[in-house]
Amino acid sequence: MRKLILAAASIAALALTGPALAQSPIIIKFSHVVAADTPKGKASQKFKELAEKYTGGKVKVEVYPNSTLYKDKEELEALQLGSVQMLAPSNSKFGPLGIREFEVFDLPYILPDLKTLRKVTEGPLGLRLLKLLDSKGITGLAYWDNGFKQMSANKKLIAPADYQGVKFRIQSSRVLQAQFKALASLPQVMAFSEVYQALQTGVVDGQENTWSNIYTQKMHEVQKYITETNHGYIGYVVIVNKKFWDDLPADIREQLTKAMKEATDFNNTQSQKENDDALAEIKKSGKSEIIKLTPAQDEAMRKAMEPVYKDAASRVGQPLIDEFLKESKSTTN
Ligand code: LMR
Repeated sequence: MRKLILAAASIAALALTGPALAQSPIIIKFSHVVAADTPKGKASQKFKELAEKYTGGKVKVEVYPNSTLYKDKEELEALQLGSVQMLAPSNSKFGPLGIREFEVFDLPYILPDLKTLRKVTEGPLGLRLLKLLDSKGITGLAYWDNGFKQMSANKKLIAPADYQGVKFRIQSSRVLQAQFKALASLPQVMAFSEVYQALQTGVVDGQENTWSNIYTQKMHEVQKYITETNHGYIGYVVIVNKKFWDDLPADIREQLTKAMKEATDFNNTQSQKENDDALAEIKKSGKSEIIKLTPAQDEAMRKAMEPVYKDAASRVGQPLIDEFLKESKSTTN
């Protein structure tokens, strides 16, 4: 009798867990380090909405903004281990992973505008770079823009000489290190989540970032001056754990690809506006003085940073840098 009751109980349990198991959604944890109210923050939310809609709820996307799950370097390790499925790290983050080719995106003034950038990322060169991620157990799905970087500090940064001895927070990038060395500054690698406090307490004197990142991290509240240099670019590669992606049922992968394409269009059409709005808010706050450079001052900055190209060529090879430069020339001509 006891055996019979037990058997009946286990059949009942099976009946309960069977359909429940079949219905349990595939979870995609999407971790990132910036605020929700930024181009990347909004696009990841958009991807979540579209992915859940197109898969009819078979996929659930959990977005973790603001380094709530992982900081810069940790997030890539977590993705490779499969603890998180999706990320959108900046291009700068792939050099330290051994994919040096991505260092080119960090070169000062390499991309004059978003139009040129798009030609690189949407053309054969962009695809080739994404493919390089495969060897690290990573699948690259899309390029998302943020925008151009500005320099901030508690002193006025106008001429290259003003940068001498200033401690700058940088992302972990050989090119960014060389850039500040060329200016005789003292670069210091630091996770994005620690920048505000480091600026506030004087651990570093300055930093470089986009208007949207400066504004949403409140860096302008602890930096007296921001110089509108547009000297470099921050953009992202949306990546997934390769095994996770390859193991997905084909129809789900297709629906997610469609969601990613639309989230990418959404990001890349509104990132510029996000940065323009952030600049307007910073101006309105009156907390930071915005410095504009004259053409001659801009030229002096470009000249001072020229040695960075040679340094980068020794690691990624001149031909790859030339490929980027070719796109700039063909856009402006
Ligand atoms: C930074 O570390 O400054 C940026 O790459 C952060 C980000 O993801 O925009």
